[in-house]
Amino acid sequence: MFRILVTDKLDAEGVEILKRYKEFDVVEKETLKGDALIQELRGYDAIIVRSETKLTKEVLEASEGLKIIARAGVGVDNIDVPTATKKGIVVVNAPSGNTISTAEYTFAMMIALARKIPFAHASMQQKVWDRKSFKGVELLNKTLGVIGLGRIGTEVAKRAQAFGMKILGYDPYLSEEMATKLGIELASLERIYKESDFITVHTPLTDATRGLIGKKEIEMMKKSVRIINCARGGIIDEAALAEALKSGRIAGAAVDVYSKEPPFDSANPLLDAPNCILAPHLGASTAEAQYNVAIESAEAVANFLLHGMIVNS
Ligand code: MLT
Repeated sequence: MFRILVTDKLDAEGVEILKRYKEFDVVEKETLKGDALIQELRGYDAIIVRSETKLTKEVLEASEGLKIIARAGVGVDNIDVPTATKKGIVVVNAPSGNTISTAEYTFAMMIALARKIPFAHASMQQKVWDRKSFKGVELLNKTLGVIGLGRIGTEVAKRAQAFGMKILGYDPYLSEEMATKLGIELASLERIYKESDFITVHTPLTDATRGLIGKKEIEMMKKSVRIINCARGGIIDEAALAEALKSGRIAGAAVDVYSKEPPFDSANPLLDAPNCILAPHLGASTAEAQYNVAIESAEAVANFLLHGMIVNS
């Protein structure tokens, strides 16, 4: 019998899949932290998490018998992968289940920014009928800079084409031939900063991408640029972005992710920045995406425990 711990409110269908196997004892728990997590984790063969459970070095070092960690989502930044690897624990993610949701959400952010919809909504709630302050811009013929052309970045680019945007893309791993096929013009980061009307980032957070866009990069941009981050907090330097919004150096930003989540106890400077749409990391929050990633993770755990197979789609 394998024991599987499921936390962070995984979609029910993923849990159901696992419960169908007589070889599995599946236990569901609310998000656990620190010592409570260390105590609970002992004796499990597998754990499935979303983003709230933090499988830190300390937690993993204290674990006994854990064989696989499945992350029901893309980013594995809540898991200390080097420690897991050192302990021989396999880490898998669910890389494709939330692609469309996150791409659509990025687009929703872009349109909301272009047309200032959240700011108009806030004004209506104050019972102010203001038709002058919320003049926006069209997307047609605007240049969209997409940094990171993996699954999500590519889907964003496809949708931008339908809106008649010109797409400049940066991704060291994408060939010129593939980019052309996708209707994307590959460009240097510098060119993207200088020519884009909208810039959206779709990279993981790594040592190479932390602070990728900071004060110096923002200085290269048009004053009318609007910046979107639905990828990971920290790719865009929050202090530099907030400063650019406060001084009117850029036209707007939409931010779904933060260097520390939730950002409230860290006095994040974006919280009171003007022309900035903020949301609590909702890119993958759709019924479809949560269903998809739960199934991907449950199947990955079952395949590994029963057949020793590691399948990452
Ligand atoms: C992901 O990494 O899959 C997304 O950021 C969504 C999430 O954290 O659940």
